[in-house]
Amino acid sequence: MKVLINGAAGRMGKEVVKLCEEGFASSSVAAKIDKIGGEYLSLDAFSGEADVIVDFSHHTCASEVCDYAVKRNIPVVIATTGHTEEEKAIIKSAAEKTAIFYSGNMSVGIAVLRKLVKAAVAAFPSANVEIVETHHNRKLDAPSGTALMLADSVKAVRPDAYEVYGREGQSKRDPNEIGMHSLRYGNIVGIHEVFISTDAETITLKHEAHSRAVFAEGALVAAGYMVGKKSGLYAMEDLLRDKE
Ligand SMILES: NC(=O)c1ccc[n+]([C@@H]2O[C@H](COP(=O)([O-])OP(=O)(O)OC[C@H]3O[C@@H](n4cnc5c(N)ncnc54)[C@H](O)[C@@H]3O)[C@@H](O)[C@H]2O)c1
Repeated sequence: MKVLINGAAGRMGKEVVKLCEEGFASSSVAAKIDKIGGEYLSLDAFSGEADVIVDFSHHTCASEVCDYAVKRNIPVVIATTGHTEEEKAIIKSAAEKTAIFYSGNMSVGIAVLRKLVKAAVAAFPSANVEIVETHHNRKLDAPSGTALMLADSVKAVRPDAYEVYGREGQSKRDPNEIGMHSLRYGNIVGIHEVFISTDAETITLKHEAHSRAVFAEGALVAAGYMVGKKSGLYAMEDLLRDKE
C-alpha cells in the first residue's frame, strides 16, 4: 500500500517514513508532505497515486486533511490529538463521504488493554479501580489522554464510576471512585497500569510503550485495515473486532 504521510518531517511522521521505507505492513511511501519541508508543502500539491493517508501533523489540519481525503476518495488515518469540538464535527461529517480511522492512541496494545479492562471491571462490578500512568519528565498534560480513555472504558461498563485525581490528606475511598495517578520522571515513553481489586484479589493490567515507534506501527496497521473500506468512522475497536 502506498502511504501519503502528512506531517512527514515531524517526530511521528519520521517514524512512519522509516517504517514505510522498511516495508512494514506491506507499506511504501507515496509522498512526504510537510509544511516545513516535505517533498510537498501541502496535501493539495500532490496529485499522484496513494492508497491511504496517514496524518501525524496537527489537529488544526483536520479540515484540510478531510477535504483532501473526500475530494480524492482516499481513506485516511487521523492520528493527531487535541481536536476541538468543531474539528471533531468536521471529521465526523467527512466520514459520511470517505473512510476515516480516528484514534487518540494508535497503539494496538492499548486497544487490547481497554478491552481487557472492560472485561475485568464487568467481572468484578464492585471492585476498587485505580489507574496509574507514568511518563517522561517533559510531558505537559496530566493525566495522559490514554489514562482518560482507560477511565472511559471503566465507565462504559460501570456508569456510576467517576475519576478522583490523586489523593491528599484524609480521604476515605468511595467504592465508585476511579483513582487517577500520574508519575513523571526520567525518559519513560508511557506506562499505563490498571488495578482492579476486591478485598480478596487484585488484577493488574499493564501496558508499556518501549518507543514512539509503537504509535507509527499502529497507524500503519490501521492504514492497512482502511484500504478498500467504505465510508464511515473507524477506530481501534473495529480493527480488533475484525481480527477475532
Ligand atoms: N494517536 C497517537 O497515538 C499519537 C501518538 C503520538 C503523537 N500523536 C499526535 O500526532 C501529532 C504529531 O505529533 P509529533 O510529536 O510528531 O509533532 P511534531 O510537531 O514533531 O510534528 C508535526 C509535523 O506536522 C507538520 N505540520 C503542521 N501543520 C502542517 C500542515 N498544515 N501541513 C503539513 N504539515 C504540517 C509540522 O511541520 C511538523 O513537522 C500531534 O497531534 C500528537 O499529539 C498521536
